Amino acid sequence: MSSTLAPMQIEQRASLREFNSFGLPAIAQTLVHVTSDADVRRVVDHPEYGRTLKFILGGGSNVVLTRDVAAVVLKIEIPGRRVVRETADAWIVEAGAGENWHGFVAWTLAQGMPGLENLALIPGSVGAAPVQNIGAYGVEQKDRFDSLDAVDLVTGRSVTLDAAACRFGYRDSVFKHTDFGGLAGKSVITRVRYALPKAWQPMLGYLDLERKIAETGNAHPDAKTVFDWVCAIRRAKLPDPAVIGNAGSFFKNPVVSEEQCRDIIGRDPEIVHYPLPDGRVKLAAGWLIDACGWKGKSVGRAGVYERQALVLVNRGGASGAEVVTLARAIQESVYGRFGIRLEPEPVIV
Ligand code: EPU
Repeated sequence: MSSTLAPMQIEQRASLREFNSFGLPAIAQTLVHVTSDADVRRVVDHPEYGRTLKFILGGGSNVVLTRDVAAVVLKIEIPGRRVVRETADAWIVEAGAGENWHGFVAWTLAQGMPGLENLALIPGSVGAAPVQNIGAYGVEQKDRFDSLDAVDLVTGRSVTLDAAACRFGYRDSVFKHTDFGGLAGKSVITRVRYALPKAWQPMLGYLDLERKIAETGNAHPDAKTVFDWVCAIRRAKLPDPAVIGNAGSFFKNPVVSEEQCRDIIGRDPEIVHYPLPDGRVKLAAGWLIDACGWKGKSVGRAGVYERQALVLVNRGGASGAEVVTLARAIQESVYGRFGIRLEPEPVIV
């Protein structure tokens, strides 16, 4: 029997601990392993699951589980990587939503198709990349995005969405919202395509990469070198979720008005900030948290990573509630000192 015809695998009372990078304990009443578009349609047509609330789980690297999940959990495991076509300017590459993101980035480079190297080593799956518009070292996935396929969880119909329809923003997309036509919980991303420009130029504007140029004396790195630099920078700063449970940056970098920023700089001249094209200013949340003395601290079994205050970690056996308690304490102290409300980046369930 071919895999698309094989019955989908369904588990009852399944542990999600292994399926979230924080390693938090939670039980899914029903867990469906989705390996094809046909599986999504089977769920939609299912007499019981069809009408039940769904929770879509990718690599589990951007979620904080604080309780058991009553919704039917769709664990997206759709495989496949291919070059779809070549245009005059770009290669269009595609991956199944269940592919590991970093593995996909490495594969594109092995095909001789650079463009995603700044996004190396970001944990999670390909299907999750557009949801939170992942970004690192001066590149966001929207900068290379071509289109994606998704299956509607009510009608079972397949749709193809372009970048405009995805409404990408800083760590944001239509898939994170339920209002104004948002698609959160309503649509399952099954495949994502990227356009990798043939006229490749390294993106080296980020401070950490400029440091690498200075260190190595190599001002014209090829894509593989940028990939290696990004991996080295991330390994030095960010905990490997396979070793220490975490969900990457726990808060978004807040954006404030120029006036508000001037006021804050007046009080704290050291504050790390980046002017945005629209006149507003983005502040480094990691710096704000660090300035409040949180780096390396713990509340219960949840802690603030020693080398990057923006990352909360599971020190072993933490519950989702402990992580949320720590996050709230951080939000309060940053608000108390700077008057800025930090917004969590992962989805809190
Ligand atoms: N900083 C501190 N103390 C800290 C942490 C940071 O002073 O404990 C300062 C740094 O020295 C630096 C500035 O804050 O001057 C920014 O830090 P960093 O370059 O490490 O980047 P970030 O703003 O903390 C963002 C993304 C990361 C991404 C990096 C690199 C967000 C929420 N986070 O972090 O994304 O890898 O830039 O592009 O935008 C993620 O989303 O999960 C993630 C890891």
